[in-house]
Amino acid sequence: MSGHDSSTRLALLGGTPVRDKAWPQWPARGPAEERAVLVALREGDWGGFPLPNERSATFAAAFADRHDCDHALCVANGTVSLEVALQAMGVEPGAEVIVPAYTFEATASAALFAGCVPVFADIDPETWCIDVESAAALVTERTQAIVPVHLAMTVADLDAIGAFAETHGLAVLEDCAHAHGARWRGRGVGSWGDAGSFSFQSSKLMTAGEGGIVTTSDETVLDRLHALVNCGRQRPGAAEPAAVIGHNYRMTDLQAAILEVQLDRLDRQHEIRAVNARRLRAAIENIDGLSNLRIDDRVTTQAIYQFVFRFDSEAFAGLDRDTFVATLAAEGVPADGRFYESLPVSELLRPDPARYPAWSKAHARSPAAHCPNAERAAYRESVWLPHQLLLGTESDVDDIVEAMLKVQGSAADLAGLESTEVERLRQARSAR
Ligand SMILES: Cc1ncc(COP(=O)(O)O)c(C=O)c1O
Repeated sequence: MSGHDSSTRLALLGGTPVRDKAWPQWPARGPAEERAVLVALREGDWGGFPLPNERSATFAAAFADRHDCDHALCVANGTVSLEVALQAMGVEPGAEVIVPAYTFEATASAALFAGCVPVFADIDPETWCIDVESAAALVTERTQAIVPVHLAMTVADLDAIGAFAETHGLAVLEDCAHAHGARWRGRGVGSWGDAGSFSFQSSKLMTAGEGGIVTTSDETVLDRLHALVNCGRQRPGAAEPAAVIGHNYRMTDLQAAILEVQLDRLDRQHEIRAVNARRLRAAIENIDGLSNLRIDDRVTTQAIYQFVFRFDSEAFAGLDRDTFVATLAAEGVPADGRFYESLPVSELLRPDPARYPAWSKAHARSPAAHCPNAERAAYRESVWLPHQLLLGTESDVDDIVEAMLKVQGSAADLAGLESTEVERLRQARSAR
């Protein structure tokens, strides 16, 4: 038990949390969403068929325009959007697809669902997006595509990726699940590769609960997408028939009604988050043991899905990252540490010869190499704060900073605690 008074005694150890006030709610919603859903509900045309249904078509056109693409097609979620985009880009079953090691499983599993072999490149230690040099070492005659992920609050180096893809004749699919409205050198993400894939799952910067969209400016890709998403049916006016057995991956028009409103809100929310993120980054610069990721100057509009920073246990009396995160959360600042795994060592992604023969064969030939930068980020350094924490005021940001400083000031009180004890304390606190 520490000799601290109640203002420095950690909430995890029974002290008073820095904050017990609610954070801005997510999804943000209001009368505009209510009206949009009610209108769609009363009209009765709820589904996604015929594809594209009216609202999905209007929304997709606006979303494509916002991202400087000629076309977009709404789909059921941001996993199938990756899967169909790879197929529509002409990436063949059995082909190798380079993905970053540090991302959500779907970036890799979508390649598997398309019958491809995901191959893991390490990440840049400063941005945590795919490292093109690491990718270059993985190219074989079987490589057909690269899938950069615009991670958390930044954009992968699209110039380097474009040059790399051109040199090796690869297709580029941007995974923009975190990056609605972001721009690289003034141009929308999702317009730099052959296609872009976005998610509208509940936590994302625009959401209809679930949903996804593929952006492209290539009409052939669009024609194939239609067939793949709509049970093999041809896009009206398709230039050439795409003979594929498709799925039903359509989005409903009820979802599109909500997303039209969410798109209208996006720019204003970006501005609020940007102001608050600047304040938080400046504070982090002054906290020993915490550091910011590099945001490239070519990111001209930043989309902040999660505010991510690095943690160094040495400056926190040797606390490990997971204990830091649990302690911060107990102080009233929702935070996550192991938000993503390093996929080559993730238990979730084990080759299964019956389901994924191409991947299993490739894995037997050359098992996925360790990616040290991804492992450091995933298991030791990364701290993720959800974006809605930045949708409030300066004083909300100051609460986050105060909690960080409090944890640092009293970190020694937790020294030597086993992770099971930390978990017990965490559960006891959340049960209160
Ligand atoms: C980087 C990334 N890619 C793909 C996805 C998959 O999106 P969804 O959850 O809509 O299937 C996500 C969602 O969490 C993601 O974060």
